[in-house]
Amino acid sequence: MNSLLRLSTPSDAHRWSDERRRDGQSIGLVPTMGALHRGHATLIERSQALCDHTVVSIFVNPTQFNRSDDFDLYPRTLDVDIALCDSLGVNAVYAPTVDAMYPEGFETSIDPGSLAHRWEGEHRPGHFAGVATVVTKLLTAVQPHIAVFGEKDFQQLAVIQHVVRDLGLPVTVVGEPTVREDDGLAMSSRNIHLASDARAQATSIKQAIDRALDRSTSTDSPSDIVEQVTNDIQRSGGTVDYVAVVDRLTLEPVTDLNSDTRLLVAAWFGGVRLIDNVALAATE
Ligand code: PAJ
Repeated sequence: MNSLLRLSTPSDAHRWSDERRRDGQSIGLVPTMGALHRGHATLIERSQALCDHTVVSIFVNPTQFNRSDDFDLYPRTLDVDIALCDSLGVNAVYAPTVDAMYPEGFETSIDPGSLAHRWEGEHRPGHFAGVATVVTKLLTAVQPHIAVFGEKDFQQLAVIQHVVRDLGLPVTVVGEPTVREDDGLAMSSRNIHLASDARAQATSIKQAIDRALDRSTSTDSPSDIVEQVTNDIQRSGGTVDYVAVVDRLTLEPVTDLNSDTRLLVAAWFGGVRLIDNVALAATE
């Protein structure tokens, strides 16, 4: 019999965590916005492998959405999510309300600096300040020893690692590889918004990435790869926001491929914005 606990306020989470910490038990946090899928489940399993207790936070964070329609349409499936967490043996779900997270008069925001300005930051102004602020609040409430994030949101993972380092937060950030559908599409809560033709076209992202991976072993330059991936996606009906070959730590574009190179992609299919990325010459 599982005993999944529901925590609703920062002080609930804090108290729960304090009790476990006093008993010398370790806590892992998996921050999510819900509409959980197999990608989230692998993060949960990673936390369970590393810690005595796993908390999943479920909070659709208004401050990281730069478009109100995106926020309004974001899938909310709390009951199903809680049932999934229960079946996975999660110890607690932390699902605060917007008011509990952002009480009247809330004004503080964390500016993650230059890493947040490029790529997603350019196309979604304010997004990473919203992410950095909410993640810092979740870490403060739950006080986990580790927090698990997906490489699916590669820039987000880099931004969070940077914030944790800059603020000296006492948590270890763990990154997990991207989980994909059978046809290669990266799992995402937004995929349910893809109409069937757009869903079929969206597989071109992974196909374009795979072609880039093949070519990266030859003499192709980053600019050739950017051109190829952009063309492949556009030919399939996608609208590209950006394709970039970057250093995995600075996220700055590179002119030569090396073991630290990451390919980042963001593109629209039928009104749905998708992101993906891959290590071009994997070190891991
Ligand atoms: P959300 O999109 O729900 O994602 C929660 C976590 O799951 C993130 O770390 C994300 O990278 C990871 N994830 C999503 N799809 C994945 C996949 N296919 N494979 C592996 N991991 C995947 O990211 C957020 O929520 C929010 O920005 C959040 C960090 C919770 C702050 O609000």
